[in-house]
Amino acid sequence: MSFKSLPKAELHLHIEGAAPPDFIRSLAREKSVDLSKIFTEDGGYAYRDFWHFLEVYEAATSVLTGPEEFGRLTKAVLEACAEQGVVYAETFLAPDFCGKRDVEAWKDYLGAIEQAAQEAERDAGITLRGIVTCVRHFGADAARETAKCAQETAGGFVTGFGMGGDEKSGTQGDFAYAFDMAREAGLQLTTHAGEWNGPDEVRAALDDLKVERIGHGVRSIEDLALVDRLTDDGITLEVCPGSNVFLGVYPDLKSHPIAKLRERGVKVTVSTDDPPFFRTTMTQEYENLARQFGWDESDFRALNLVAIDAAFCDEATRTRIRKILEAQDV
Ligand code: ADE
Ligand code: ZN
Repeated sequence: MSFKSLPKAELHLHIEGAAPPDFIRSLAREKSVDLSKIFTEDGGYAYRDFWHFLEVYEAATSVLTGPEEFGRLTKAVLEACAEQGVVYAETFLAPDFCGKRDVEAWKDYLGAIEQAAQEAERDAGITLRGIVTCVRHFGADAARETAKCAQETAGGFVTGFGMGGDEKSGTQGDFAYAFDMAREAGLQLTTHAGEWNGPDEVRAALDDLKVERIGHGVRSIEDLALVDRLTDDGITLEVCPGSNVFLGVYPDLKSHPIAKLRERGVKVTVSTDDPPFFRTTMTQEYENLARQFGWDESDFRALNLVAIDAAFCDEATRTRIRKILEAQDV
């Protein structure tokens, strides 16, 4: 079977980061915004390194000016995911980019996103859940406002709270209040850690934010006591190998620790992060991992079951999606 048709679950996907370059280019044209600097000649996104990537990401996002744009974006992203065999996805949604953290505006954006998700579920058979996300380099005050947006919309479609952005800015602990607010609202928690900083960052995420999943977390491999803690505590890593290699966290897939983490018992999953930025797809990730580490269909089926077990969704949804992932007739 081809990896493309294998049913997949993806836990780590930024909605703006999944925007196809053509989608952003045509919105920029509609709004007469000059974004030519952020594109390469062949039509991809252009940036030098992670920090420049964050700037380009925010520039691209600047043309997503209202709920309607986010609805269209959600539809385009889910169609692209479904095309890769993804049947369940979770996406990071940042109120910073959806009404500048104003709660009433955020509700309008979320309404459009949710409606697009329902249409995609009906038309393309893909289920989406939202993880409201603060952006680390926007600071702790902004994160509390984001957590307020999360509190006001928690339940149903919004199942999680997380943090992305520049890991070199502030500490995980600075965001403890925002994460406490989200936890009290019944949301499940994840944060980016151990992508650019080392094992101490992952420890801080566990100790100070008490998250149950870690975005990336790959640099945990530099401290085997921490790796064992991840295994013992059943922490799931949202690993994005193509993102890590493209951004230079590791020079190549051969040096990437995903296989070592898995061998030591850590619950690893595979996601694309910001697929067009890293010129990847879920199918491409599976093909690369198969080539590099000899993983086959049974490995990917197992990884997808780890993902659905760690998914931020209700039990009825988990049971329904698990059946689809387990079906052998694809
Ligand atoms: N936002 C979008 N992609 C990200 C990444 N890989 N790391 C941190 N923040 C992000
Ligand atoms: Zn990410």
